[in-house]
Amino acid sequence: MKKFDLLVAGEINPDLILTGPNLEPQFGQTEILVEDAALTAGSSSVIFACGAARLGLRVAFIGVIGDDLFGAFMLDVLKSRGVDVSNVIVDENQITGLSVILNRINDRAILTHLGAIGALYSKQITDELLAEARHVHVASYFLQTNLQPGLTDLFKRAQASGLTTSLDTNWDPEEKWVGVDELLKHTTVFLPNEAEALSLTGAPGVEEAAGNLATQAAIVAVKMGVDGGLAVDGESLYRAPIIPVDVLDTVGAGDTFDAGFIYGFLHGWPLEKSLKLAIACGSLSTLKPGGVEGQPTLDNARKYL
Ligand SMILES: Nc1ncnc2c1ncn2[C@@H]1O[C@H](COP(=O)(O)OP(=O)(O)O)[C@@H](O)[C@H]1O
Ligand SMILES: [Mg+2]
Repeated sequence: MKKFDLLVAGEINPDLILTGPNLEPQFGQTEILVEDAALTAGSSSVIFACGAARLGLRVAFIGVIGDDLFGAFMLDVLKSRGVDVSNVIVDENQITGLSVILNRINDRAILTHLGAIGALYSKQITDELLAEARHVHVASYFLQTNLQPGLTDLFKRAQASGLTTSLDTNWDPEEKWVGVDELLKHTTVFLPNEAEALSLTGAPGVEEAAGNLATQAAIVAVKMGVDGGLAVDGESLYRAPIIPVDVLDTVGAGDTFDAGFIYGFLHGWPLEKSLKLAIACGSLSTLKPGGVEGQPTLDNARKYL
């Protein structure tokens, strides 16, 4: 049996989440008071890894941090979730990245200092490490600039040694949406949100966008915020609604959705059941502040299937 179900290769940084109704910064040295502030585990890759570990998957993480407080904080969070961090690279020439999130209940603005976020290279993910896992997941494609050029080859290497692959590009800050065509052909499960699926394809509607993407990736699951999500595998298309909850914040909801979907996928569940678990995980994650605190256990999420 392989040592890990999942290898996550990606960015590691905390989120500083500021919450309140009055979050518009004003220059001229104006000081605005916010209701709440919390430093929590951020980054799509780490939130995904923590969500998958909470569901019971055996997860290993590889990424780059600086030799600093934010990096140490992130290692602690990963370890506390049982994620294997023995492959995390501490680079004293880097500064761990940071996102400042200005959080209103149903929307947020994000300021990110990239730091080491884009520092990981695909060559640092060795065949030996790949061989320890059943599946490899990559998130924040557009932020991981060092990883981008070698990622298609990494996914090819992974698939050649029997691993399945998944990708959540997240938003492209440059809004160019290019470079993933070849990569998607080697992606087993592609996990965009609705806006990303539309931007990547130029399709007029989400079902068409998902259908287009499913001519490249084998399975496509699209997150649709309050509208839940949909999943296609080239043959069938399923939609499922959210679980109505009292949303505190939606930070990390998409990554927690991804974790639920990949849990189902790795257990050979039918598409529709994986989608429902994904949506349960995404919805429940909104009940607590930040990306990781509200992530459900499998038992908890199953109650909503
Ligand atoms: N307002 C909400 N109420 C309940 N669940 C939500 C809400 N917003 C998001 N979710 C859950 O989180 C999942 C991912 O949300 P979404 O915001 O679309 O992803 P992303 O963070 O990638 O943009 C949704 O599929 C849903 O399960
Ligand atoms: Mg997302």
